Amino acid sequence: PQRPLVDSFGRRISYLRISVTDRCDFRCVYCMAEDMTFLPKKDVLSFEEVEAIAGAFIARGTTKIRLTGGEPLVRRDIMALVRNLGGRIGNGLDELTITTNGSQLQKHAEGLFAAGVRRLNVSLDTLDAARFAQITRRGRLGDVLAGIGAAQAAGLAIKINMVAMRGVNDHEIEAMMDWAHGGGMGLTLIEGMPLGDVGIDRVDTYLPLRELHDRLARRYSFTKLDKRTGGPARYVHVAETGGTLGFITPMSHNFCESCNRVRLTATGQLYLCLGQDDQVNLRDAWRNGGAEALDAALDHAMIIKPKGHDFVLDRTRADPAVARHMSVTGG
Ligand code: GTP
Ligand code: 5AD
Ligand code: SF4
Repeated sequence: PQRPLVDSFGRRISYLRISVTDRCDFRCVYCMAEDMTFLPKKDVLSFEEVEAIAGAFIARGTTKIRLTGGEPLVRRDIMALVRNLGGRIGNGLDELTITTNGSQLQKHAEGLFAAGVRRLNVSLDTLDAARFAQITRRGRLGDVLAGIGAAQAAGLAIKINMVAMRGVNDHEIEAMMDWAHGGGMGLTLIEGMPLGDVGIDRVDTYLPLRELHDRLARRYSFTKLDKRTGGPARYVHVAETGGTLGFITPMSHNFCESCNRVRLTATGQLYLCLGQDDQVNLRDAWRNGGAEALDAALDHAMIIKPKGHDFVLDRTRADPAVARHMSVTGG
């Protein structure tokens, strides 16, 4: 590509995460408060605008795009965007993927595959229906399991993302591993991060994954894998289950030095780090100055992209490290 995007720490930015909506049909306890105020619909980018911005990134060497939210599949007519972005696969883009809660997958699985999507990350924290209802507040486990089945039948590879929480679902990790690996899916564990006020204290449920890794390594034979998906997870192969287990550990081991991504919100703000407020307004750049202004905004973004997050979980701090919720920036 012409003038690839490289930030001031020499990191090549090749992965764009696009939050297509901050809305969601669930209200997971670690992600959202019961009562959320969402971005005004009038401020949300049109699909034409999203495609223009995505195109500017692809022209400058972005090879991987992930659609996130909120729940991306609840945005009206989302498949039109998926089809158009899917058209860039092989033409600048290597991969178009989606992170979803799975609730709408029965409806969309075949369309996603037809559009060129080959991999999905599905967020699922428990296999117990009652606990699932408690964690998501509104979700039904049966819908998600049926959605995963439909996605696999359509030919999509699936990775399960599980936020590991002490006293909530940590006793289910082995069962999740058996289930996911038995079904040919990867499982990745995520440490809870202090993003947005959710009305509960995340310190109580924080589970350092380094500790968990060591506990599991006594029972299972792990082989470290070099596999890099462009994401932050570090992976091991588990001999007993024959599957891959990933660890995303922003709290206990930060991976910022190899960061390759930036995040576009549904309203066109480009956030340069999940854990910092630095941002560039790409919507205004595009609306007021077209392609040239957009390109200049990307250059500016590379200059101000921060070195990394500084998440801490601290009882003496009343506010979360970052005021905005994960659903705004895109998980
Ligand atoms: P693949 O590696 O392609 O499977 O994707 P991924 O792990 O990048 O994407 P996914 O949407 O599954 O991300 C899983 C979770 O990792 C996110 O929801 C975040 O919680 C966390 N995560 C992803 N990127 C970052 C990052 O840059 N910083 C931090 N702190 N957390 C991240
Ligand atoms: N910390 C860690 N993970 C979170 N997710 C949402 N909010 C948080 C948080 N505060 C996860 C979801 C999903 C992914 C998109 O982000 O469970 O797996
Ligand atoms: Fe929705 Fe995902 Fe947040 Fe749960 S974690 S409320 S499914 S955006």
